Amino acid sequence: MKQNPFLAVDILTADQFTKENLQLVVRTVKDMEKLVLKKGANDILKGKIMTALFYEPSSRTFGSFITAMQRLGGGFIPLQGVTYSSVSKGESLPDTVRTFANYSDIVVIRHPEVGSAKIAAEFSSKPVINGGDGVGEHPTQALLDFYTIINHFGKIAGLTITMVGDLLNGRTIHSLSRILSQYNGVKLNFVSPKLLKLPSELKSRLELHKIIIYECEKLSEVLSDTDVLYITRVQKERFTDLGIYEKLKHHYIITTDVLKNAKKTAIVMHPFPRVGEISMDVDNDKRALYITDQMRNGMYVRMALLKLILLP
Ligand code: NCD
Repeated sequence: MKQNPFLAVDILTADQFTKENLQLVVRTVKDMEKLVLKKGANDILKGKIMTALFYEPSSRTFGSFITAMQRLGGGFIPLQGVTYSSVSKGESLPDTVRTFANYSDIVVIRHPEVGSAKIAAEFSSKPVINGGDGVGEHPTQALLDFYTIINHFGKIAGLTITMVGDLLNGRTIHSLSRILSQYNGVKLNFVSPKLLKLPSELKSRLELHKIIIYECEKLSEVLSDTDVLYITRVQKERFTDLGIYEKLKHHYIITTDVLKNAKKTAIVMHPFPRVGEISMDVDNDKRALYITDQMRNGMYVRMALLKLILLP
């Protein structure tokens, strides 16, 4: 393998992560964790600037990219919300991206339209990271989710991973399932209401791999075999008919009672924000990793990616 396949590369889809290059990512993430725990920060990215160009709300992705850059000694241009940028004056995405590519060394973009990160990358003279493009993908979230799973279990092959909720619109699900499908013997359960099933073209793509896919509506059908329970919110902002959203939003609620039927060794994950899918009392269950490992890993993974893209 080339020494650093991520150098100066755009990160647009989770398909870019292969079993081979993921080993390098995992090693680098572990280095970042050690760095933060031992010293908090260093200055390997001193003199580098990251633009965080966010057209959609974000707490964790935005915040963890900013702190990742700071912990490596770099600077940043934080653009969250469109009201104070010239986007509200009708500036096009290509013009905005070209502007900030001139000011900085890397651009992280979140945008409501599928394919927007790809368009940004076409116009940017600097590497672009997709921080979520509408209902499309969210590759860096997938990376931190993948890392959380492999760091906990020491493997991916052979695990049963159950994704629950809005599989149609949830971009974290789309990207994570793309990464996981490369590992032999993985079983992916997709649990959702009929209206929110995984997009059929994604399902067909996953089926090309040597994994087992099972779709159903009832979590109880698959919970007791599950190693990773990955639950997501119903993506309100993607609904034109809010009446349908209201009917579906609390289709699945994970409570301590529900978890009584899960394996003792299972883990519970959620990309957040949660809006009622997991009750607060689950937070104290040692299987709940969403506020601990999963969130911290978000910062370490983004530190690792910034280092790999910006330094030879
Ligand atoms: C997710 C997103 O934006 O897609 N949030 C995140 O980045 N952690 C999930 C969501 O909004 O439901």
